[in-house]
Amino acid sequence: MRIVRLDLHNIRAIRVAQLQPASNLNFLSGENGAGKSTVLEALHILGYGRSFRGRVRDGLIRESMPALQIFCEWQDANNQTQKAGLKHAGGDWQAKLNGEEVGQLGDLCAAFAVSVFEPNSHLLVSGSSEYRRRFLDWGLFHVEQSYLVLWRRYARALKQRNALLKQKNLGGLLDTWDFELAEAAAPVLWYRRSYLDGLLPYLQQVSEQLLPAFGDLSFELFAGWKNEQMTLADALLLNRERDLSLGYTGIGPHRADWKLHFSNKSKAEAYSRGQAKTLALTCLLAQARHFQQLRGEPPVMLLDDFSSELDGKHRGRVLDELEATGAQVFMTGVELPAEMQGREVRVFHVEHGQIHAPEF
Ligand SMILES: Nc1ncnc2c1ncn2[C@@H]1O[C@H](COP(=O)(O)OP(=O)(O)OP(=O)(O)O)[C@@H](O)[C@H]1O
Ligand SMILES: [Mg+2]
Repeated sequence: MRIVRLDLHNIRAIRVAQLQPASNLNFLSGENGAGKSTVLEALHILGYGRSFRGRVRDGLIRESMPALQIFCEWQDANNQTQKAGLKHAGGDWQAKLNGEEVGQLGDLCAAFAVSVFEPNSHLLVSGSSEYRRRFLDWGLFHVEQSYLVLWRRYARALKQRNALLKQKNLGGLLDTWDFELAEAAAPVLWYRRSYLDGLLPYLQQVSEQLLPAFGDLSFELFAGWKNEQMTLADALLLNRERDLSLGYTGIGPHRADWKLHFSNKSKAEAYSRGQAKTLALTCLLAQARHFQQLRGEPPVMLLDDFSSELDGKHRGRVLDELEATGAQVFMTGVELPAEMQGREVRVFHVEHGQIHAPEF
């Protein structure tokens, strides 16, 4: 997708702003607190229903205003124009997609594929397993139509089982929901494994460019319970006492994890922050390429303050890789990094919540 127009109202320091981005690289420059990241947050809200810095109700709406508004127009892979509008008051919201009211924010998000790299993205590598599950599930939601339904079935079974555990319900109902949970888990696991299998060649390609010294790459997927030789149904039964005392289900695909291993890096060796960021970028760029292969177009890439903690060599390599994906990119930074000079880039200057368009 290529965003051709973005209108913003009442988001943080931005009262009203409009942006007509280039189809490739866009850079938002300006002083600290100018409102650069806010523009990326607005795009993130359309893609995820929330900002990468929190929910709409957590301070995104401009002070003393009732709601924020975002309007976006883009071209899809078939060069068709699509339009989305969102008015969000923190709790209540209204959205339209191509003129039709949207019933669930998820329907808007499904049409609006944006991938984000932000100052906390190293957590994809060094944070809890939740970040890595989110990465997998985002990819699957967008490339595998049936995944959302399968995931919802699992989430529903989990909720039911947890409710029974809280009630200390030891009747046959717990057996029924154990069975349903195990049944629902199987396709989720299968899709996650096959997604990582499909992603691996892209991860290898990108890591050869960004982290050549690390060597060959492989992945390890942890299904979400200790002894994976055992079926989830058996593991649930074995874990029942513990789950009853916890009051929730402690094992299953909602606890899954995955890790990348490199032939030239021992498993015990920790990554530096810059390495973790580069590795997170490797994952996002590989995901964008894989996405493009399956969907016919890459997602829009948002990179907030990407140059901090990456050295010049790695910045240059990341920019080369971004160009190779052919994605539309929105980056922010106090000033244009030296590695970007001489590249085809549209620079917008942001100042006190106003976006100044470049002169052509
Ligand atoms: N709810 C709000 N209402 C009004 N202004 C807000 C609100 N929330 C944040 N701000 C202001 O908006 C600005 C936040 O902008 P943003 O985080 O986009 O800046 P930035 O240009 O990315 O800065 P940096 O270079 O530090 O990353 C700050 O000046 C902040 O004080
Ligand atoms: Mg910022």
